[in-house]
Amino acid sequence: MRAADIAPAIGSRVTGVRLDRLGPGEFDRITRLVLDRHVVCLEGQQNLDPSAHLAFARRLGTVEEYPFGRPLDGYPGIFRIIKERDSSSNFGGVWHTDSPYHEVPPAYTVLRGVDIPERGGDTLVASMCAAYDALPGDVKERIEDLDGVFTASKVHGSGRATNFSIGDVARIDDRDRADRTFAHPLVRRHPQTGRKGLYVSACHMSGIVGLPPAEAERLIAELSRHLVDDRFTGRIRWSAGLVVVIDNRCVQHHALNDYHGRRREIHRVLVSDGRAPSRELRGGAVDAISH
Ligand code: SIN
Repeated sequence: MRAADIAPAIGSRVTGVRLDRLGPGEFDRITRLVLDRHVVCLEGQQNLDPSAHLAFARRLGTVEEYPFGRPLDGYPGIFRIIKERDSSSNFGGVWHTDSPYHEVPPAYTVLRGVDIPERGGDTLVASMCAAYDALPGDVKERIEDLDGVFTASKVHGSGRATNFSIGDVARIDDRDRADRTFAHPLVRRHPQTGRKGLYVSACHMSGIVGLPPAEAERLIAELSRHLVDDRFTGRIRWSAGLVVVIDNRCVQHHALNDYHGRRREIHRVLVSDGRAPSRELRGGAVDAISH
C-alpha cells in the first residue's frame, strides 16, 4: 500500500490496496491517514460492489440512511448522486459539509465513483482545520464561543428557492424534518485528533445564535470565503472504482458542475461513529431560536 499527498493541506491518494479484502493492519493505516489527511482517495476499487462498499463503510461506524433522497434499490444505506447528460444542475454543487443539520452530523462520507465523465466532474475539498489555524487571532477570539444554527431548510425544506435543484437524485420531500434546526459550535474540536476546525456550511445555516440576522449573515459569508481559500483546498479527480473517505468533522467539499453533456454517478454512504463533538452541543435541538 502506497500513499501520496494530494495537496499540502488536505488529501491522500492510496494505491496497492483492495478494500474487499482488507487486512486489519491496512484498515488501521487507512483510518490513521484519514485522521491525518482528512480525505483519502483509494484507487483501483473496481471490484467493490454495493454490498462491499457498505461492508467497508461499516468498518468505520454505523451506516446512516439519507433522509432526503431515495436510495439504491435494495441498499438503504447507499444514496445515488446522479447527473444525467441532458441536465444542467448537479448535487453538492456548492461548498458544504455533509448533513450538518443533524444533532450529531455523520463522521464520514464514503463515496464510490460509478459512472465518471472523461473530463471534469472533480470534487474540491477544503480543510476546516487548516482554515481555522490561519484565522487572525481576533477572529478566533470572536467566534470561539459562537454556535451556528444548522438546518436543511434552504436545500430541502420551506426555505428552498423554487429553482433550487439537486441534479437527478430522487428527492424525498420531508419539509418538517428539513426545517428542524440544530446548534453546533462554529469552532469544533475534532474528537480524535483534538484539532480545532472552522465548522461552517453556508447553504445549511440560517444564523448564529445570539447575533442579529444581518450580522450573522456577514460573519457566515466572511468565514465561508476564508474557508475555501486555495491554501486549504485539494481536488479529487474521479475515476470509476475510486473510493473516497471524507472526514466530515474537518472537511468541506464542492462537486464541480463542469461536464455538461456527460453523465456522472457517484454512490454515497454516510457513516456515524457515535462520537459527539468534544464540545457538547448546547441545547441539542434548538427548534425555536430567537435572534
Ligand atoms: C456530495 O456528497 O455532496 C457530492 C459529492 C460528489 O458528487 O462529488
